Amino acid sequence: MRSLIDILELSTTELDELIATAEDIIKNPAKYSEACKGKKLASLFFEPSTRTRLSFEAAMYELGGNVLGFSEAASSSTAKGESVADTAKTVSCYADIIAMRHPKEGAPLVAAMNSSIPVINAGDGGHNHPTQTLADLLTIKREKGGLSGFTIGFCGDLKFGRTVHSLIAALSRYAGIKVVLISPEELKLPSYIKKDILKKNNIPYTQTENLDEVIGDLDILYMTRVQRERFFNEADYVRLKDSYILTPKKLENAKADLTIMHPLPRVNEISVAIDNDPRACYFKQVLNGKYMRMALILKLLEVDVK
Ligand code: CP
Repeated sequence: MRSLIDILELSTTELDELIATAEDIIKNPAKYSEACKGKKLASLFFEPSTRTRLSFEAAMYELGGNVLGFSEAASSSTAKGESVADTAKTVSCYADIIAMRHPKEGAPLVAAMNSSIPVINAGDGGHNHPTQTLADLLTIKREKGGLSGFTIGFCGDLKFGRTVHSLIAALSRYAGIKVVLISPEELKLPSYIKKDILKKNNIPYTQTENLDEVIGDLDILYMTRVQRERFFNEADYVRLKDSYILTPKKLENAKADLTIMHPLPRVNEISVAIDNDPRACYFKQVLNGKYMRMALILKLLEVDVK
């Protein structure tokens, strides 16, 4: 039995297989419509979510399975003091697979260590978000035709943005990637990711606070929201929240085939005036996330669809 806590638990071959399965689901949805008949997904969300929770639930329904769970800690026995370990043991009695989001880094790992069914990390604090990365990889593959040989800029809150951490880790598996890190000083990418991922894999990277200076070099621009919920101090959030706002004017120097991504939700980081620009791919990411979560559920439940 396997869980998915960190994107690096999947080999490059497995990432490519998941993408291939998702692409087959897109082409042949009927083939998969009863693949998980009789199976149940427990959707345990201790922190707010729109896309991740609903796409996991839609994924399981589209595979013919069922869903149970909760969307806030307050409506579970966590409010009475139950531990993550006991919750995982309990839910293992009712479901076949768990998708868990939790504000504490490492909570899904604790769940996996105490569960008798697979656990998927649906986002843990400011740490990792591996299934958003699956959505991002499928989006890049579909937009760029492959997962190698491009320059990607990550812009905004690179300190707390868990989707950035997981995507950088996944991209370290592919050749010819260059990374541009664009953030205020206080929201720079954590040193351990630079050391353990970028430097260790000889991935060229630069750091800047100025998006305008580098936007013309980018094949992909990955915008992020400043993560208000991870700040200790509201004044710091207010000072930093509008550090980067992508507008049509800012795109004047961008490549004609730039791919603009954002894991969403957005606050102010991308003007709605860009939504109809053909380079805007953030709502494509939302849809791709459902297909990749379908592929992941099939893999972890070891369901083979012919
Ligand atoms: N991208 C993402 O994780 O969105 P939600 O917080 O709405 O799930």
